[in-house]
Amino acid sequence: MAVVVLLGPPGAGKGTQAPVLAEHLAVPILGSGDLLRAAVAANTALGREADQYMSRGQLVPDPTIVRVFLDRLEQPDATRGAILDGFPRTRVQAEALDTALAEAGRRVDAAILVDVPTEDLIARMASRRICVANGHVYNLASNPPLVAGVCDLDGSELVQREDDREETVRARMQQQIPPLLDVVDHYRSSAVLRTVDGRLPIDDVSTAVVAAVDADGAVPGGGVA
Ligand code: AP5
Repeated sequence: MAVVVLLGPPGAGKGTQAPVLAEHLAVPILGSGDLLRAAVAANTALGREADQYMSRGQLVPDPTIVRVFLDRLEQPDATRGAILDGFPRTRVQAEALDTALAEAGRRVDAAILVDVPTEDLIARMASRRICVANGHVYNLASNPPLVAGVCDLDGSELVQREDDREETVRARMQQQIPPLLDVVDHYRSSAVLRTVDGRLPIDDVSTAVVAAVDADGAVPGGGVA
């Protein structure tokens, strides 16, 4: 059983690296942003509430996301472990996650920080595109699709995310990096934090992320370096 948290500022590459780790450890990806965007698209009560915050670059309130995300973590597909992409994002969320996992005899095995300076992220997000069917991630500059505007994996249309407009991106950086630093401290103090350089080419970041979970055998299912 492996529970790995992927941390990083908006646009650092968490969603790009999550599938690599999920395949390596044979566990599902639980993505908080994907979960919320699906609720917005389905116009559920959660989606309507979340949209008010997401469209302004703000975090969804802790009580809402904690309830929704921990429910998702209890689904049968996550009993063997999971890659947590985008949760926790505040110290309150990190503590709620620790409590829920402890009640089930589990814990966060590794927290991997994909570290990228803010100034690099604004440009990255302007050229990000995602596919409408499954949210597969591309970048017009660093990771383009084979055919312009079409997802390589499922053939669906590629679009820009609503919250990737520059003013929203700047709001996300300003509002979400301070609580991220609290979460980084939380995992540093529990000695499960590992940091990788997210400025490297995507394949090199993938290699570093896999090495981080394999190091010292801390993550069940990972290798032992
Ligand atoms: P979410 O969808 O989680 O957004 P995020 O954390 O801001 O992260 P992103 O998805 O923007 O970036 P990423 O790190 O996954 O980067 P990616 O791989 O796409 O959350 C959206 C919103 O939901 C939040 O703003 C908030 O409102 C709400 N929310 C979610 N979780 C919440 C929570 N726990 N609590 C409260 N609210 C919550 O890569 C970015 C781009 O860079 C892509 O184009 C990619 O191709 C490219 N790229 C990736 N790696 C590299 C590289 N090494 N070199 C060059 N380009 C690269």
